[in-house]
Amino acid sequence: MSPRSVKVNSWNGWDPLRHVMVGRADGTMVQAPEPAVRRDFPDDGFPLGAYGRIPDEMTAAANEQLDGFAALLEGRGIRVERPEPIDFSQRVGTPEWTHNSMFGCMPPRDVLITVGNEMLEATMSYRSRWFEYLCYRPVLQKLFEADPDARWEAAPKPRLTDASYNTGFWDTYNQLPLEEKLDRVRRNDLALTEAEPLFDAADIARCGKDLFVQLSLVTNRSGADWLRRHFPDHRVHPVSFTNTHPLHIDATWVPLRPGLVLHNGERPAEPELTEYFKVNDWEVLEAVQPESWHHEARLSFCSPWLSVNMLSLDENTLCIEEREVRLADQLTAYGFEMIPVPFRAAAPFGGGLHCATWDIEREGTLQDYFP
Ligand code: NVA
Repeated sequence: MSPRSVKVNSWNGWDPLRHVMVGRADGTMVQAPEPAVRRDFPDDGFPLGAYGRIPDEMTAAANEQLDGFAALLEGRGIRVERPEPIDFSQRVGTPEWTHNSMFGCMPPRDVLITVGNEMLEATMSYRSRWFEYLCYRPVLQKLFEADPDARWEAAPKPRLTDASYNTGFWDTYNQLPLEEKLDRVRRNDLALTEAEPLFDAADIARCGKDLFVQLSLVTNRSGADWLRRHFPDHRVHPVSFTNTHPLHIDATWVPLRPGLVLHNGERPAEPELTEYFKVNDWEVLEAVQPESWHHEARLSFCSPWLSVNMLSLDENTLCIEEREVRLADQLTAYGFEMIPVPFRAAAPFGGGLHCATWDIEREGTLQDYFP
């Protein structure tokens, strides 16, 4: 990194991208069960309670696509950083708990967010993800050294004792009637308690002065409140959607450019949120149905709505998974140049093109898009 040319700066998800991180699949695990998450892939060799490394051939295929994506971005003049995977199969712990596995470092978006010149590490809320920031520290350190104006913050490391979780949540939640589940989602009475602030960075959608924070299975009210106090010059909006398994806002509510937000219509927004966008002259565009790919979603915990999990290179250019042809057509009609990227193999490692990246620099300044 040549020191003078490095600048940590990003206020939204659509300004021209100059510098980005792309994750790696190496060593990713099907996590051991823990209070906040239980993997259960009986048809794919990991029934409830089983855990272990994702098979090598899947990891190699994901890395090929991640490397290809990184090369594509570099080919467009965008500087790319990569994390340094550690041994995710090791047992981890703090003085208050131990856990049998970690996860991986394919989705830096979950852990890191840039707001202006600040790089912020999220608390995270899974024990298996408590130490994931270590994979990103070499790059954070380099950026800190290279840009004298960069700020580097970490939200309070959570304790993640049993007090942070609703005991037995996963024993009962999936059996509840739909309305009861949705009521719990609206109240954010889910896997997490309010014992301490918890959030994943991928539950935040950045629109300049406004930060939209999804209350979810991994983000609690206290986490949103911590963000509100941490960013006093922003408007921080806790939001929820009609989605029984909310987890990361970037497959649900995706601002594409000033005045246009892409919405996953299967997860209706609260009327207040839609109204807030509409009175500020934003169009809420309902995304077309994603391609169906469950048959090939081995070990994936994501929905087909990864279709909308795109990376903007600027407000007219979007990287999209190559098989999402209908969505590409829909957005082409809205004036976007769509760049198809093969990326399905990366899904079991934590998501799509947006999840797999972390914006370090986008040109642009702080704007108020909701005056
Ligand atoms: N949990 C989301 C993906 C987030 C990028 C979903 O499955 O739709």
